[in-house]
Formats: sequence, structure tokens, C-alpha cells
Amino acid sequence: MALLEIIEYPDKRLRLASKPVETIDARIRRLAADMAETMYAAPGIGLAAIQVGEPLRLIVCDVHAEGEDAKLLTVINPEIVATEGEVAMEEGCLSLPGIFEEVRRFAKVGVDYLDLDGERRHIDAEGLLAVCLQHEIDHLDGKVIFDRLSSLKRKLAVRRLERFKAEREAKEASAQKNA
Ligand code: CO
Repeated sequence: MALLEIIEYPDKRLRLASKPVETIDARIRRLAADMAETMYAAPGIGLAAIQVGEPLRLIVCDVHAEGEDAKLLTVINPEIVATEGEVAMEEGCLSLPGIFEEVRRFAKVGVDYLDLDGERRHIDAEGLLAVCLQHEIDHLDGKVIFDRLSSLKRKLAVRRLERFKAEREAKEASAQKNA
């Protein structure tokens, strides 16, 4: 297994529409395992393949609470087939460092997908898992949190992201000088 590099906004690849996975072979299983390792190390609760530069409809997520066992979910070629209600939750994104924004989404979603064995599966999700799945499926369609914000909030958030990245670079530079 290996840690993968997570690409960050404004990398244009985040805007790509990802392609369905045609064959679930050793390469895909390896990618899914590496994505899970990368997500846990970040740490994050969800990761879409495009965030590691692979434009494939493949997602990993794990929303288990602290103290609970890990519940890794690998979702291939997901399709939202049912929605219900509305919820607003503060979301972050591993490709948008330093950004936490309230986003409106469906409160519950039913999702059809393939698992790593190529079996057709269905999950009815609510709460954090429903939000996480919708966030990651957005990535597969080239969307990020910014696209769910008003234009004013979006401008402010983009500025905050730029400031965060500049401060991180300055910190890294001074750490190098002191090393
Ligand atoms: Co994200």
C-alpha cells in the first residue's frame, strides 16, 4: 500500500467528470486500498479517486465515530436513486485545505453502486454518511464545495483557501530554514 498525493484546488483535474470503472481488476483494488490509506492518514472521512488524480468513479469513505471500529466503504460507479429531506452541515474537503463551509444537501440518499467484488449493492444513508456520499459523488462530477455556495461566500472561501496555502508555504519554508 502507498500514500498518494492529494491534489488541491485550483488544480483543473478537480473539474473533470470521472469515467465509470469498467473492470474491477487488481489495479482498481490497489487504487482503492491506497486511497483508503491516504484518507485515514490525512485524516479525512471521504476521498474520491480524482482527488489523487485518477478520473474514475471510485470513492472511499469511513464516517465511524471516535471509539468505534473502522467502517470502510468502497463505492464504485455510484448512482443516487432516491433522495429525501434537506440538511445543512459544515463540510471540509481534503482538496480545499483550511475550508469549512455549511452546505445544503439531501438529508437521506439511496445509492446504487458496485463493491470491490463487482457485486451490485444498495445503501440507504442518512446523517454524516449521506452528506459524505453526496460530497464525494460531487467530486466525480467535477464539483467541489465552492459550487454549492453563494457567489459572495464562494469568493470569501477562495480567498481564505489562498491565504491558508500561503501561510502553509511560509511555515514550510521557515521549517526548512530551521532544519
Ligand atoms: Co472533497
